[in-house]
Amino acid sequence: MADLDVVTRGGVLIDDEGRIAEVADADKLRKEHPDARIEEVSGVLFPGFVDSHTHGVFGPPRTADQARRAKGIEYKTIAEQGGGILSSVRDVRALSEEDLLALTRSRMKRLLGLGTTTVEVKSGYGLSLEDEIKQLRVIRKLGDQGPTLVPTFLGAHEVPAEHRDDPEAYVDLVVNEMLPAVVQEKLAVFCDVFCEPGVFTPKQSERVLSEARKLGLDLKIHADELDGSGGAELAVSLNARSADHLAAISDKGVGALARAPRTVAVLLPGTQLFLGRTNRAPARSLIDEGASVALATDFNPGSSPGMSLPLMAMLGVSQLKMAPEEAVIAVTVNAAAAIGVADRVGQLAPGFDADMVEADIGDWREMPYWYGANMVRRVWKRGAPCP
Ligand code: NIG
Ligand code: FE
Repeated sequence: MADLDVVTRGGVLIDDEGRIAEVADADKLRKEHPDARIEEVSGVLFPGFVDSHTHGVFGPPRTADQARRAKGIEYKTIAEQGGGILSSVRDVRALSEEDLLALTRSRMKRLLGLGTTTVEVKSGYGLSLEDEIKQLRVIRKLGDQGPTLVPTFLGAHEVPAEHRDDPEAYVDLVVNEMLPAVVQEKLAVFCDVFCEPGVFTPKQSERVLSEARKLGLDLKIHADELDGSGGAELAVSLNARSADHLAAISDKGVGALARAPRTVAVLLPGTQLFLGRTNRAPARSLIDEGASVALATDFNPGSSPGMSLPLMAMLGVSQLKMAPEEAVIAVTVNAAAAIGVADRVGQLAPGFDADMVEADIGDWREMPYWYGANMVRRVWKRGAPCP
């Protein structure tokens, strides 16, 4: 994870399809390709950042939750009082697909302006067949108008009000009706579950995820976020693509992820910070024991209205004690692995999409350093400058 290749006075040769043909000394490339159209870049050029965990389709912000929290009311109590995830569910249900699309388009544009060229986006604020599909259609319609979107079905994000008395019936609905419809319309690549005490048990999570796998979806888990229930171990036993959050992971969970052949640990330091929680995901032991770690925003209206991956990289260093090299890898290469696109994006290397970010800094270490200002000057997707 600390294996960062830094090229000084470098150049990137891009082919007609918007793919990287070569990364080398700029003068050498100029000499060998005298006819190439040249764009001068200064500062530091990074691969486009990859946000591997967002809940980016939502209605209004939840400022009331934030004010309650400042009074000392806890995340779970806020939810019990009718705030929390279920208030965003009411908002999403009340919005038309067009209105949700417009909101999401402008938010994704902001992410792009912060250097994020690929974003995983989850449903999970619909919690009915119709409203989950509505969210996923928004993601599909946006496609790659802004950043390239990778869709995840998160019908098992919470038990909606109408199933409060019988959560098992809601799991039936997710498995028997939502999953087949989502797959039929090819609306998702991943299926995710919020596996947490008081939300979905490991057993219910396993049921949803095994069904999803049978239908051809790849898997993710919201694991061990608040109190923890062995979600990390479940993710590894199901060979999931990622186990996310992990602020309450056990030592056993760390060991499982360290030995996992493909499960990336996606850490979301903005969430802990925004919720005012003091426990942190054990990034150091995960990395030192051999796990692959990514950092993401968790962009959502309740627990992390954060949009900036450089900010998350900074928090990775300052809060999770990651090395600057590790933080860069965590928002590029490993983030791409966490959403199954590591063969196409996340690196400035031959064969990869020319998704690139020019930052107005003198040294790459300043990316996970400055915060509160956007240091990104220009962004390209597949070689084309983004407006
Ligand atoms: O990742 N953990 C569950 N879901 C979100 C919170 C969403 C919300 O509060 O609206 C999360 O933190
Ligand atoms: Fe999340």
